Amino acid sequence: MYLKTLELHNFRNYADLVVEFGSGINVLLGENAQGKTNLLESIYFLALTRSHRSNSDRDLISWKAKEARVLGSVQKEHTVTPLEIDLSSKGKNAKVNHLEQSRLSQYVGQLNVILFAPEDLSIVKGSPAIRRKFIDMEFGQMSSKYLYNSAQYRSVLKQRNQYIKQLQFNPKGDQVYLDVLSDQLAAHGAEIIFQRIQFLKKLEKWSQEVHEEISQGKEKLSFQYVSPIRSDQADTTEKIYAALQDLFQKQREKELQQGKTLVGPHLDDVRFIVNGKNVSTFGSQGQQRTTALSVKLAEIDLMKEETGEYPVLLLDDVLSELDDSRQTHLLTAIQNKVQTFITTTSLSGVAQQLINEPHVFNIDHGVLMQSKEE
Ligand SMILES: Nc1ncnc2c1ncn2[C@@H]1O[C@H](COP(=O)(O)OP(=O)(O)O)[C@@H](O)[C@H]1O
Ligand SMILES: [Mg+2]
Repeated sequence: MYLKTLELHNFRNYADLVVEFGSGINVLLGENAQGKTNLLESIYFLALTRSHRSNSDRDLISWKAKEARVLGSVQKEHTVTPLEIDLSSKGKNAKVNHLEQSRLSQYVGQLNVILFAPEDLSIVKGSPAIRRKFIDMEFGQMSSKYLYNSAQYRSVLKQRNQYIKQLQFNPKGDQVYLDVLSDQLAAHGAEIIFQRIQFLKKLEKWSQEVHEEISQGKEKLSFQYVSPIRSDQADTTEKIYAALQDLFQKQREKELQQGKTLVGPHLDDVRFIVNGKNVSTFGSQGQQRTTALSVKLAEIDLMKEETGEYPVLLLDDVLSELDDSRQTHLLTAIQNKVQTFITTTSLSGVAQQLINEPHVFNIDHGVLMQSKEE
């Protein structure tokens, strides 16, 4: 799919914008604070009815206005679908084919986007909690079963931790209830771990391909699920369940000392390995960037696999982070496949391939101008 046209009225610093995009790469060129991210944000908003960087819709309306409108047409193989979101202080209306959708959940899914911004580097460099959140968000979008088990797990974990704390004050308390909670936690935990490993395998396969492409075959990326559950214990949910039960038994004393649950998917991690080394600790800046980008780009293929359509890719300020050859290979990886929006402040240091793109737009104070005609 691709976004054929976009129309903005009083969205952020865009008073009135009407523009037609190319189905391939679109470069958005402009100095700082001119509206590059705002434009990507409007596309993200048109897709998901929410902003990626603000929790308040009011922020999206121009300071000079009371209402904003975002319209676009999405081209799929044989169909063009008009989308529209009207935004005011009273709320928002989302329309597909000019028909208002009573539920936003009916609206979402018409336009799929993947956004990549510099802060996404934290998937590689950040704490395990950031990686867990990343995989939970990604896999949750693709599986309602995963979402269900995650919610159940969180709730049982909370109860179990509270009960362990109670037992600290009352060591003669009912241990059977702890067993019951352990059993429930192991059951949901096993489903989560099993699905994570399955999804990670798929994501790894796609990430590997992209990473190899961007690094020109010099680097091999692999994933490792980090958990006290050994991989030979992890090929069925039953086995994972048994292994978790066993760990809960073994750790009981320690858990009572520390007052919390010490094993389970809420403490697991994913390790990204490049050429045999953990890239989060031993990788160069360049390798870390490439890894984050590869993992993110791999979602494109995973999404295609799961939904049948390629999403639209939004790359905000990512280009300057990559050297020329990584840029070229990134572009090769996405070429002819995915409509891509790339923001940059300057074309110097940008791959020639991009400069020659017919779809370079200059952005100046919320005004867009195509710099070359096709
Ligand atoms: N609701 C709004 N109404 C009008 N202007 C806004 C609004 N929100 C942000 N801006 C302006 O948008 C500009 C920032 O745009 P942004 O897209 O983040 O810039 P960049 O090109 O650096 O990505 C700033 O000048 C800011 O004042
Ligand atoms: Mg910006």
